[in-house]
Amino acid sequence: MLATDMQIDEIEAWLRQDDPQRLTELWRAADALRSEYVGDEVHMRGLIEISNHCVRSCAYCGLRAENAGLPRYRMKIEEILDCARQTEEAGFGTVVMQAGEDYGITRSWMTEVIRRIKRETSLAVTLSLGERPREDLEAWREAGAARYLLRFETSDAKLYAKIHPPLEPGEPDRFERIRWLQELGYEAGGGVMIGIPGQSYAALARDIELFREMDLDMIGVGPYVANPDTPLGCGKMDALKLPDGEQVSADETTSCRMIALTRIVRPDANIPATSALAAISTQTGRRHGLERGANVVMPNFTPAKYREMYHLYPGETGRRVFTPPSREDLAEFLASIGRRIGEGHGGRRQVQADVSGCA
Ligand code: 5AD
Repeated sequence: MLATDMQIDEIEAWLRQDDPQRLTELWRAADALRSEYVGDEVHMRGLIEISNHCVRSCAYCGLRAENAGLPRYRMKIEEILDCARQTEEAGFGTVVMQAGEDYGITRSWMTEVIRRIKRETSLAVTLSLGERPREDLEAWREAGAARYLLRFETSDAKLYAKIHPPLEPGEPDRFERIRWLQELGYEAGGGVMIGIPGQSYAALARDIELFREMDLDMIGVGPYVANPDTPLGCGKMDALKLPDGEQVSADETTSCRMIALTRIVRPDANIPATSALAAISTQTGRRHGLERGANVVMPNFTPAKYREMYHLYPGETGRRVFTPPSREDLAEFLASIGRRIGEGHGGRRQVQADVSGCA
C-alpha cells in the first residue's frame, strides 16, 4: 500500500517497480497527496550561486578543490543584492544563496549580506553554503536566514565516506549538522543524489525512511550526473559500481519514483523538481517532477558570466528552460499542468500555521 508509514521493503519494491500501470498508481498517489497537503501553488526560489570556491574534495562535484581547471569567482555584495531584487521583481518569495564550502565567505560578510536582503527586500532567505561551523549557522539565523539546505547525499555511510572525504578526522556528519539546523530554528533541508556508482536500492529505500524520521522541511532529490572532471565521473572509480539489478540507475523514471515516494512519506514537505532532473531530461524532467510529487522550482538568477563557472555537473542547460526567468513563461507552463505560481514565502511551517489559522 502507498501509505505514509510504508515499510522499507515496500519502499524498495516501489523503487524497483517497472510495471507502467503500477507506476501510474504511484504517480497518482503522490500527486493526490501533493494537492491535498501543499496545494496547487508552485513556490519559486530564486537561486543565486554566490561563489564557486570550495575547500572540499567531493568525488562527484565539479567545484571540488582539486579541480584546477575551473576559474573561480565570488560575487560582490552589490551583485548579490541586484539578483535578490530581480527575484523580488519577478514576484518570487524566496532567495536561495548557494556556494561551494568557501571560507572566503566569512561569518561577518555573510551576516551583512543576509541583513541587507532582509532590510531591502521582502524575501525569505535560504542558505546552502556547506558544512559550516555551528557559530556561523547561529549568526546567520539571527541575521534573518530562515532555511538551510544540506543534502546528506546518501545514507550508505561506507559509500558516503568514499565520495565525500572529511576535512578533519572525526568531524560532525551531515546528520548531526542537520540536527543543529533544526535546533537553531531553521527550516532544514536534506536530500540525496540518485544513481551514485555504488548506491543500492536498499540504500535508496533507507534514504526515504530517513526523510520521514528526520522530519525534514525540504527534501531535494535529483539524479547523479557524471562530471568527467571528477574522480567519480571520469571512470577512475568505476569499481564502485554494483552488479546489474543492484546498482540504482540515474534516470528520469528512477528520479520520479524517488520524488513520488518522498512526497508519500513526507506529504507536507517542500520538494523541488530539481535542476539535475531537468538537465538529464530536458523535455519532460521538470514537468514530470511537478506532476509526480514536487511543488517547488528554483529558477536561476545567477549572472550569466558566473553561471558557466558554477559547474557541478555537465548538461546544466536544462536550467535554461527558466532562464532568464520570465514570470510569464513560468506561469504559462504551470497553467498547462493545472498549477500556479505560489504567493508569499512558501515555507513549510508558515503553510501549517496558515492552515490552523494562528499565523
Ligand atoms: N550530479 C548531481 N548532483 C550533484 N551535486 C553535486 N554534484 C553533482 C553531480 N555530479 C548536488 C549535490 C549537492 C548539490 C548542491 O548538488 O547533491 O548537495
